[in-house]
Amino acid sequence: MKNFLFLLILLFSCGPQERVPKEAFDDVQRNNEVKRITEVAILQEAMVWGDSITKEAQAQLTAQLLQAIESNGPAGAIDFCKVNALPILKFVESKHAVTLRRASYQPRNPVDTPNEEELPLLEAYAYNVENNIPSDPSIQKIEQGEVLLYTKPILLANSLCLSCHGDPKKDIAPETSAKLKELYPEDPATGYILGDLRGMWALRLPKKEVVKRL
Ligand code: HEC
Repeated sequence: MKNFLFLLILLFSCGPQERVPKEAFDDVQRNNEVKRITEVAILQEAMVWGDSITKEAQAQLTAQLLQAIESNGPAGAIDFCKVNALPILKFVESKHAVTLRRASYQPRNPVDTPNEEELPLLEAYAYNVENNIPSDPSIQKIEQGEVLLYTKPILLANSLCLSCHGDPKKDIAPETSAKLKELYPEDPATGYILGDLRGMWALRLPKKEVVKRL
């Protein structure tokens, strides 16, 4: 009986006080979990959105390039690329409130020179291609985490690409070479073979736009 009373007193005096810190602890745990899930969800959504935007841009570029080659041949299509490649990307950009670029070690258009955020990623993709390691797209947090940089390698996967980026002696027709020289006198973007890394997509997704999609 004495013991029972003692237990009752203990329960009423200490019990509730003990429970408070435990509940607080649980709350913190729960909040952390929510926060962790959200971060992961944001990165996953950025990956899904990045895949979809770069696929859209790639499809637009390829469709319009093929059409231009069909109508005017590769030499004629170079004019088309010079005038339209960037506006096609701008159009895709403006539909989604993002920034979309291509970056290359050997940029035909100097605006495609990689910046300091892009260079290490391009180096990693180049390393993988040289060592036959498949590369997945990647997401990096930049600008204090406010922007998610989605990148994806662009491989020279198709013999069509060689007619403007391949060996000038073998793959590129003289007429095409002449046109390239005229429009891009310093052109470094030839000499590629199939399977080479031609460059990468660099897509900047504002985090708040990614969150809106969740
Ligand atoms: C008709 C010629 C032509 C063909 C075919 C062609 N390209 Fe290009 N490519 C160009 C031109 C011209 C530019 C520069 C566009 C500009 O001034 O913005 C360019 C630019 C690029 C760039 C941006 C980097 C840079 O050098 O400025 C990438 C990446 C690229 N091409 C990949 C490819 C791939 C992959 C293929 C095959 C699917 C391909 N190209 C087929 C003419 C061509």
